[in-house]
This record gives sequence, structure tokens and C-alpha cells, in this order.
Amino acid sequence: EKGLYPHYMLKEIDEQPSVMRKIISTYTAENGSVAIDEHLVEKIAKSDRIYVVACGTSWHAGLVGKKMIEELANIPVEVHLASEIGYDMPLLSERPFFIFISQSGETADSRQVLVKVNELNLPSLTITNVKGSTLSREAENTLLLHAGPEIAVASTKAYTSQIAVMLYLAKAIGDYKNLKLAKSFDIAHELGLVASAMDTLVSEKDKLAEISRDYLLTTRNAFYIGRGLDYAVSLEGALKLKEISYIQTEGFAAGELKHGTIALIEKDTPVLAIITGEDTASHTRGNVKEVESRGAKTMVIAMEGLQKEGDQIIIPELHALLTPLATVVPLQLISYFACLQRDLDVDKPRNLAKSVTVE
Ligand code: M6R
Repeated sequence: EKGLYPHYMLKEIDEQPSVMRKIISTYTAENGSVAIDEHLVEKIAKSDRIYVVACGTSWHAGLVGKKMIEELANIPVEVHLASEIGYDMPLLSERPFFIFISQSGETADSRQVLVKVNELNLPSLTITNVKGSTLSREAENTLLLHAGPEIAVASTKAYTSQIAVMLYLAKAIGDYKNLKLAKSFDIAHELGLVASAMDTLVSEKDKLAEISRDYLLTTRNAFYIGRGLDYAVSLEGALKLKEISYIQTEGFAAGELKHGTIALIEKDTPVLAIITGEDTASHTRGNVKEVESRGAKTMVIAMEGLQKEGDQIIIPELHALLTPLATVVPLQLISYFACLQRDLDVDKPRNLAKSVTVE
């Protein structure tokens, strides 16, 4: 099934452009509108607050989804860790709607929350890659990722497809509510640009392998920083690196560094900054300078138009909401190579299982 690929993870990273195209064709109706059941869209549109529940990488996708739904559909969104909200329900709004994000659809932490949500008779949707999975069967509604089986423990194409499907959902709700921003958002076109950007990024393997060797081969720790959506991707990039390379990696809101974490910066500590936000670029650049002056070995992933000389990775220009779909790709590949260069098991990291069926 891996075909010519040495590892599932690499195959799954490479599949992302075609998964994006598959999502575009599945979720775009012939007349150009979003192909999601109108009853579901109506139900969510009538809710006054969305509660997203997930774990790990799916939780990170939820952080990006929040921004998309708030911007395009104008509904406030809270993103919760399943293992927390299940035992500590926040005060719910009058008309809550629950969205469960789970690649496998089998995660026990998420399921125990769904059981409670069903007991309370509250409406729910599962966004999953696995048709007929437990979370899909037990939620009121399901949207599928259409990403094809994800075998590697480190989640890659599920993350990008979860974000793309949430984008379709956000657009559908915004269209239903007749919101200007949603109506003028050409989703198939913008996601098409993402697929092309991904094509470019996955072709840069040699360069990324070299970056990984140069920055990560001998380090014990690493820091990923960004602001806004770049912060959300920092968290995901850090999880990807730590879970397969065992390098202790933390994702940080760039502005928080000076509130504590900067104390950890020593000579040659790798710090990777993601810069795609026009409003925040100069601030994050400032943070890069701060850590550099304390000896950090810095690396910048920047979007075209915001790049500066010396930046290591350039992301083609994309719609501001969609940059996570591109910036995550080099981070996935850097993690892959860091793991390989340390001679570790890429697809089956120690102590981890593909789906976590215990609470
Ligand atoms: O199947 P799920 O999406 O519910 O899984 C959630 C997490 O266990 C999963 O994303 C995990 O964090 C991955 N190993 C990350 O790469």
C-alpha cells in the first residue's frame, strides 16, 4: 500500500495536494454552491455558539477552524480539549452546537464528551475520515474528510483536510446567512491555489532535509513561534516534531516569549518562526531578533510579499485564512526528516497508537 514510498508518513504528506482537489470536487456543487446538507447548515446557522471538541492534531485543526467560522459565518466558537471539557463543562450558551473533529472517529476522550452531549439532547456534528466510525454513528450529523486512509501515527493529511472541510462548512453557513464576506469568498479558487502551493512545497524535500539536518540533528529542544493562525500552526508543527523525533519542542505565541520562555534560549537553540500575517509580521520579526541576540539559531517560514533576505522557506501568497494549509507542509517534512536522520521509527513512534481508545 505504501507503493514506492519508504514510509506512510511521507506518502500521506505527498498526497495532500490531491486530497485538497478531492475535497474541492466533493464539496463544491455543480452550481458553485457548497455541497453540504442544507438542514445541517440551517441548524448550525441558528446556533448562538459552536463548541469544537477534539484532541491532539485535530484540536489544532479546530483552532484554525474557529477563525474561519467566526470570520465567514459570524458565530462565536470555543475550541476545547476533549479530555478537559468532558469533566469540566463550561457554562453553555442558549443554543449550543457541538462539532467533534476526529480523524479516526474512535478517540475515547472525544467520545465521552459526545455521550454527555447526547444525554443533554444537544445537536452535534462529527468531522471524520472514517465512515461508520463510533463518533460518526453517535453524532447527529457527519461530514467526511475524503482523505483516504491515514496510517502513520503522525497525522498530516487529516489535519489539512479537517481545515478544508471546516472552511466549506464556514462558507456554507455564511452563504446561508447571506453574509457578504462569505458570499464573495471564492472557496474553490482559493483552495485550488492552496493545492498548487502544496505541490511546490512537497517538491522541496531536499532543501527541507538539509534544513532539518542543519538545525535539529543534535539538539535536545526546539521552539516554534507565531501569532494568530501562525501560532496555531506553531502548536501543530511542534507536536509533529516532538512525537516522532522525541526532541522536546514547544509551540508558542511569539509575544509570550518575553513572559517566561525566553529564559530557555541558549547558544544554538533552534527557534522557528512562522510569518504570514501582515499585521503581525513586524512584531514576530522583532521576536526573532530578540532570541537571536540571546544566541538562538533562528529559521523563518514567511509568505511571499512578507519575506526578507535570509528567510529559509517561502510560502506562495494565499488568502489570509488559508495559510495554515501551506505553512504546515514544510513543518511536517522537517519533522519527517528529523526523525529519519535520528534513525527512529517514522510511522510508529514509541508509546503512541494511531487511535487512542482509552480515556
Ligand atoms: O483520530 P483523532 O483525530 O481523534 O486523533 C486525535 C489525536 O490522537 C491525534 O491527532 C494525535 O495527536 C496524532 N498522533 C498527532 O499526530
